[in-house]
Amino acid sequence: MAILHIAGLSGSLREKSYNTGLLRAAQRYGAEHDMEIEMIEIGSLPLFSEDGESPLPAAVVAFKEKIATADGVLFVTPEYNYSISGSLKNAIEWGTRPYGNNSFNDKPAGIMSVSVGILGGVRAQYHLRQILVSPNMHVMNYPEVMVGQAKEKFNEAGELVDEPTQKRVKEFLAAFAEWVKKFQ
Ligand code: FNR
Repeated sequence: MAILHIAGLSGSLREKSYNTGLLRAAQRYGAEHDMEIEMIEIGSLPLFSEDGESPLPAAVVAFKEKIATADGVLFVTPEYNYSISGSLKNAIEWGTRPYGNNSFNDKPAGIMSVSVGILGGVRAQYHLRQILVSPNMHVMNYPEVMVGQAKEKFNEAGELVDEPTQKRVKEFLAAFAEWVKKFQ
């Protein structure tokens, strides 16, 4: 079985981010489904401006290369003011530019979210689905992973410790591996 290379993007730059913790859990569980999930750093990307597209900054070139060569993209997003974070949106902007050089084009995608609130970032997830129409990504519909009340589900080190959530994430990854294979 060929290994599936997945680009993993956490939308939070916070050191003890729950979303990054969920992405780390996904990295561990992904191996059971022949997936290698690489965490792609987005915090060092400059703020997007069309004026900065030529020449592309080195960090952007490296970022776009990792996305372009991945078999699929896994987004793990916080909810900021009912949407995704500015840093994740900024990374998506760079990924789609310059015009005609959309690194996300035609790739399968998965979305998970974590929030300290009870809704688990559902509004951010649906906003992200809308955003990913423009880059022409194919987002898996089910199962959905929206982790609410994060403080009760992650430990002090930011590791996912809640067993029902761990099980749900494993189910998500099993389905995501099948989803990505459809686009091979
Ligand atoms: C939040 N948070 C938040 N939570 C939520 O459920 N809905 C929301 O609209 C918002 N809005 C929001 C805006 C801003 C600017 C911040 C900083 C936070 C709370 C959010 O769920 C919480 O900070 C999470 O811990 C963020 O995820 P990470 O950083 O732990 O991955």
